[in-house]
Amino acid sequence: MINKKIEAALNKQIEAEANSSNLYLAMASWAEAQGYEGVSNFFYDQSDEERQHMLKLVKYVNERGGRAHICATTEPLKIFDCLTHVFQDFLDHEVEITRLINELVHVCLEEKDYTTQNFLQWYVAEQIEEEAVARTILDKLKLIGTDKGGLYLFDRDINQITVTSAAGPMSE
Ligand code: FEO
Repeated sequence: MINKKIEAALNKQIEAEANSSNLYLAMASWAEAQGYEGVSNFFYDQSDEERQHMLKLVKYVNERGGRAHICATTEPLKIFDCLTHVFQDFLDHEVEITRLINELVHVCLEEKDYTTQNFLQWYVAEQIEEEAVARTILDKLKLIGTDKGGLYLFDRDINQITVTSAAGPMSE
């Protein structure tokens, strides 16, 4: 059974994951409209992943005797202008999510809720991987700069870039 403080903290994270899913959906849609098919598929997949992160939390809260709160999502207000800025936003957003997960773990330790703290370790590991992927992609984009041929190849190969980049010691 989770206590009210943990329930509220987990519900806040449910909202954050839902907003992440919405933000990446907006990025996918922007990329699709720009003709970046690979990038749009990447963000559609990211958006789906964030929804899975949200669902995992919803089910956990309900299974542990709490009640998951499904709230309205925030409209992403960012104006996207180029791939480098979009991926910088992606990295910044993941860094912020990592901070929220760490805060959540801290609340669990304060409340001596070691079951939830253990459940959250999956998110801790996931954040290491997501930040690593975002950083690797951003580094590649910075190398390419505004070179059209480079951007064409980047868009074509982005899914391979992420798979190989994420295959470090922390990946499953
Ligand atoms: Fe659910 Fe990308 O963190």
